[in-house]
Amino acid sequence: MRGRRRDETRREKREEKRKKRKKRRKKTIIFRVLFSYPKTKRHAKRNTLTQRAFTLQTLRVIIKKMSSSSALKIGGGDAAVVVVAASARRRRRKGVSGGTTTSSSRGKMFLEASSYSTSVAFYPHRRRRQQQQQQQQQQQQQQQHGARSSSSSRLPTTTTTTTTFAVSSSSSGKTTTEPDAIVSVKLDQNRDYPIYIGSELMSERGDLLRKHIKGDTVLIVTNETIAPLYLDKVKESLSSSSSSPSTTKELRIESVILPDGEEYKNLDVLDLIFEKALESRLDRKTTFIALGGGVIGDMTGFAASAYQRGVNFIQIPTTVMAMVDSSVGGKTGVNHKKGKNMIGAFYQPQCVFVDIDSLNSLPEREYNSGIAEVIKYGLIRDAKFFDWIEQNADRLQKKAIDRKSLVYAIQRSCENKAEVVELDEKESGLNVRATLNLGHTFGHAIETGVGYGEYLHGEAVSIGTAMAADLSYRLGWIDKKLQARTVDLLKRFDLPIEVPEGSMTKQKFMDLMAVDKKASQGKMNFILLKGDLGGCVFTGDFDQTKLQETLESFVR
Ligand SMILES: NC(=O)c1ccc[n+]([C@@H]2O[C@H](COP(=O)([O-])OP(=O)(O)OC[C@H]3O[C@@H](n4cnc5c(N)ncnc54)[C@H](O)[C@@H]3O)[C@@H](O)[C@H]2O)c1
Ligand SMILES: [Zn+2]
Repeated sequence: MRGRRRDETRREKREEKRKKRKKRRKKTIIFRVLFSYPKTKRHAKRNTLTQRAFTLQTLRVIIKKMSSSSALKIGGGDAAVVVVAASARRRRRKGVSGGTTTSSSRGKMFLEASSYSTSVAFYPHRRRRQQQQQQQQQQQQQQQHGARSSSSSRLPTTTTTTTTFAVSSSSSGKTTTEPDAIVSVKLDQNRDYPIYIGSELMSERGDLLRKHIKGDTVLIVTNETIAPLYLDKVKESLSSSSSSPSTTKELRIESVILPDGEEYKNLDVLDLIFEKALESRLDRKTTFIALGGGVIGDMTGFAASAYQRGVNFIQIPTTVMAMVDSSVGGKTGVNHKKGKNMIGAFYQPQCVFVDIDSLNSLPEREYNSGIAEVIKYGLIRDAKFFDWIEQNADRLQKKAIDRKSLVYAIQRSCENKAEVVELDEKESGLNVRATLNLGHTFGHAIETGVGYGEYLHGEAVSIGTAMAADLSYRLGWIDKKLQARTVDLLKRFDLPIEVPEGSMTKQKFMDLMAVDKKASQGKMNFILLKGDLGGCVFTGDFDQTKLQETLESFVR
């Protein structure tokens, strides 16, 4: 009898101890945090990481610091690399994912956290419930409204090949944010994909994005400028959207944040994407999402083409340049020290998600740089569009954007690009796709010759376009009026049209243009305007003295 009681007390004590241990474990082993204190990026890779465990509370403080300060000091030193990895169990339970990088005072360094900022990452379920309640309320209000007025209707959307321009999203009775336009890119072997264009898509239409995600994991690739602005938005809307039809599992969202700039569009930085994907054990069914401008889009697409011999990818472009040009058409790649965009692949996305609201944060100079490519479409193949841009240039200014005009400009640009890509996806002998490079042969020479970073891509293209128009006029292929209209329109968007003094010589131009991709079989090929507005040719057959004259007049 006494023995049995003793046994019971022992068992109770054991049980109590077990519970205490469990409680303690719950409190402390929540996140595995890896630290490294390297001096340079290269060191970051080599350094052995040290591990520490943190409570959720402490982690929140760190995260808060990370999002508010540019340098993070832990343990006395500048923590240049901090990888915060939630334990697998915790991650699944709480839906923790993501990451961030930031710069330290010592220059470009990475800080990365799998559970970067905001309570949203920690409470996706609570957030979802709130959203559901809000939706219910909205629906109730709409029903009441509908009883009063029968005129309320849902926005029409179109999914035709050539697209339609739909109504503004501000009309009443709207239950979901519908894209204003959908452009469809038609390719062989079932590789067609849609380009959705509209407002609030990033925050409101995770479900639409989700439709194009086949597996249960995504890797969002972005940079340190865009991450604080839009990463959480995309994550939230993705994780609160319903499951994709092909799976009932919850979506695991990983992210990697790259340093910002064309100078980081190289193989070394590309490797960070692979590292993150492998470290997170992402399989072949994963989808890479490019969230950013052309640099991020080109890199993510290329990484997707190569990771495990090819995984799906989606583009969420956040610059005009990326929306109207780089995210469409499947050219992906990185720069090599011997040449721009020299390493890459043709690889098409599953869809392109253009949220024009993201342009609110884009600097005006970047915005205008993208407009240079919009003007390009008018010049090479769409006279009516060129006329329209001339007439609507005021409405397309960054300071006074007219939403509807902007959507149309993006839509028409994407349609033009899609049509060209459909005709000549891989820039084959047809030389159709090459026409998209109007102004680019001169432009690339300027980018390299003046120095990367001095001019934005679109700015260099703008000067190049002015040069191409000049050469076309000298050859007698276009009239003076068209040349003047071209230059005037570029100027209305504050785009440069002259080569900066003392930066280039004729010889430098010739040398740099000779190594450009468009030089083939010893001939230097150019895209030049010919005939009426909207006509152009890709050729090396012209009076070369005129080229020298153009260079002479631009080089000062
Ligand atoms: N693949 C193609 O067909 C193709 C076509 C054209 C250009 N490109 C490539 O695209 C690149 C240029 O693209 P880009 O002009 O978008 O440059 P980018 O990607 O460098 O972006 C420009 C800058 O704006 C920042 N930014 C991006 N979105 C922002 C936003 N919404 N708010 C605030 N800041 C934002 C970026 O961080 C960056 O600093 C070049 O590398 C070029 O080779 C590729
Ligand atoms: Zn370009």
